[in-house]
Amino acid sequence: MRTNLNIGLFGFGVVGGGLYEVLNRSKLLNATIKSIVVKDPLKKRSIDSSHFSFDKRTILEDDEINVVVELINDSEAAYEIVTEALKRGKHVVTANKKLIAEHLDELIKLSRENNVSLLYEASVAGSIPILRNLEEYYNNDTLSSVQGIVNGTSNYILTQSNKGIAYQDAVKQAQALGFAEADPTLDVEGFDSKFKLILLIKHAFGISTTPEEVFNFGITKLRERDVRFALEKGLRIKLLARAEKIGDQVVGFVAPHFVSPDQPAYGVNNEFNAVSVNALFSDRQVFYGKGAGSYPTASAVLSDISALQFDYHYEYRKSGNDSLSFTDEFKVKIYASSSNENSLKTIPFVESDEFYRSADFSYTTGWVSFHELRQHLKSSPSDLSIIIVEEPLKGIDTNLDRIEENKTTFASV
Ligand code: HSE
Repeated sequence: MRTNLNIGLFGFGVVGGGLYEVLNRSKLLNATIKSIVVKDPLKKRSIDSSHFSFDKRTILEDDEINVVVELINDSEAAYEIVTEALKRGKHVVTANKKLIAEHLDELIKLSRENNVSLLYEASVAGSIPILRNLEEYYNNDTLSSVQGIVNGTSNYILTQSNKGIAYQDAVKQAQALGFAEADPTLDVEGFDSKFKLILLIKHAFGISTTPEEVFNFGITKLRERDVRFALEKGLRIKLLARAEKIGDQVVGFVAPHFVSPDQPAYGVNNEFNAVSVNALFSDRQVFYGKGAGSYPTASAVLSDISALQFDYHYEYRKSGNDSLSFTDEFKVKIYASSSNENSLKTIPFVESDEFYRSADFSYTTGWVSFHELRQHLKSSPSDLSIIIVEEPLKGIDTNLDRIEENKTTFASV
């Protein structure tokens, strides 16, 4: 067991401030914050200004500090801090999903070369211990999907919209409660969920993907009519991050979904997150908890710090296995709505079934190739609201759905 963890903390915002309190209140850890570096000397904070420094070298050049906890909201500055800390032989704990999703393989290499740990449980689904479970518990061969609500802000907004609260008011509430990113576009456009999904895919399936490869669409194009449509059908709209194995390929994307009451996501409200893990023998397991906010996120940071006492590091045992690859070539059933019915007619459906038209609102449903849909949305930005319909995804060359694929795998073991 490591005798002493001397922490250098970067950032004293929602999560940094939370960590300070949580660490003070938890008597268990042999860990102390030696220095805190923040950016803005003028900002009013909950503890006396004498606790803060403003120069990153205070931490990075202090040889007594063996753990850097990075909780700032600028991912480029965080990259400089984290790479420098790793090179100087300091363990790093971070909650910065954008940083990790954009530089994961490089950071893993750096942490290995310098024989230190890089831990980031808090970066995915706040308080929920999902990365360590995917890393340690689930076997790659039997895991078939990981999906869920991993962004508290958008879930909070969707929950409020079900209660009739206006979108902009709900965004303001999520910001005031400390759930939203400094730039809430990252939350509502699905980027934050995508960064988290990239980390889930790495730890679930051992595959490295990039933010460019994984497509996301968020909740900003949803309109009141879509919410009403869902409610009338007994469904709810949830922003899901979803990764699934189809044969020997893995697909992953972020999009609003219609969710029925028998799905775990249906009852997940406000800033709560839930991640469902489907595996061949264990079937569905659901991890549920607070996905954003000061103490819940700080609790995951605390857990990583605690794990350092036992020299914990991610092994990435599933990585380096070439039998799986990432693709966006699959078929998915969608609902698309627009105030302009002509926008709906340009969607490259493989098979379409319903079409509803009224003076100010039209919708259609049908199957599309996800890859073609993605190209279509990129090349002709429109007011289209796209929601995924609850049907199993299909491989592009086959009509076998995911369940059938799993049965095939099962039959052949
Ligand atoms: N903005 C993020 C969310 C914070 O709402 O989930 C937690 O990662």
